[in-house]
Amino acid sequence: ERMSAFSERLLAWYRIHKRDLPWRRTRDPYAIWVSEVMLQQTRVDTVIPYWRRFMERFPTAKALAEAPEGEVLKLWEGLGYYSRARNLQAAARELCDRFDGRVPADREAFASLKGVGPYTTGAVLSIAYDMPEPAVDGNVMRVLSRHFRIHEDIAKPAARVRMEKLAKALIPEGSAGDFNQALMELGATVCTPKSPYCLVCPVMEHCAGRLAGEEESLPIKTKA
Ligand code: ADE
Repeated sequence: ERMSAFSERLLAWYRIHKRDLPWRRTRDPYAIWVSEVMLQQTRVDTVIPYWRRFMERFPTAKALAEAPEGEVLKLWEGLGYYSRARNLQAAARELCDRFDGRVPADREAFASLKGVGPYTTGAVLSIAYDMPEPAVDGNVMRVLSRHFRIHEDIAKPAARVRMEKLAKALIPEGSAGDFNQALMELGATVCTPKSPYCLVCPVMEHCAGRLAGEEESLPIKTKA
């Protein structure tokens, strides 16, 4: 099946413009998982040194599983949202018990671990294994709602479900990891919440939100 113009242009743009981030130099699912958990509520620049220290001290799920909790929290100090670290360690222990320490290439199995939600599942399985799973976070919802001019309230679960279906349908065969990261990258660097840089956007010509002059008023989000 032919790739959509959106996917083709976005992927080509990403391959040229992607930032050289340390977790983009590995295909180790555990290392990618750690990065995705850290990136959930924290900026890329802040995460980089934390991720390096964490991977040095806990290079495998087994090393993390066997560590005292206090040591894990110590390395997390300054990142905030400490339940992320506790859940990650609990999940690493479960991974060792149930899956021999290897991230399963299976959506349901991986998502059954503590703290592993739909976004993390899609991100890790697509980036590490190139499985065609969507990874829809706030950045990605903003990109899709603008590009396809979706007026649904993204605070509503139904909107997320719709975005996940759309994101999955757009994944180019064999390039799920790069495509999902391209969506994240566009949202983080070009399709920003305020004053988006439409003139450098690789898909501006087909952006329905921009054509309607609605790029800054999308996505629609009730409740804070
Ligand atoms: N934010 C969430 N996941 C990311 C990734 N893999 N690269 C850059 N920013 C991200």
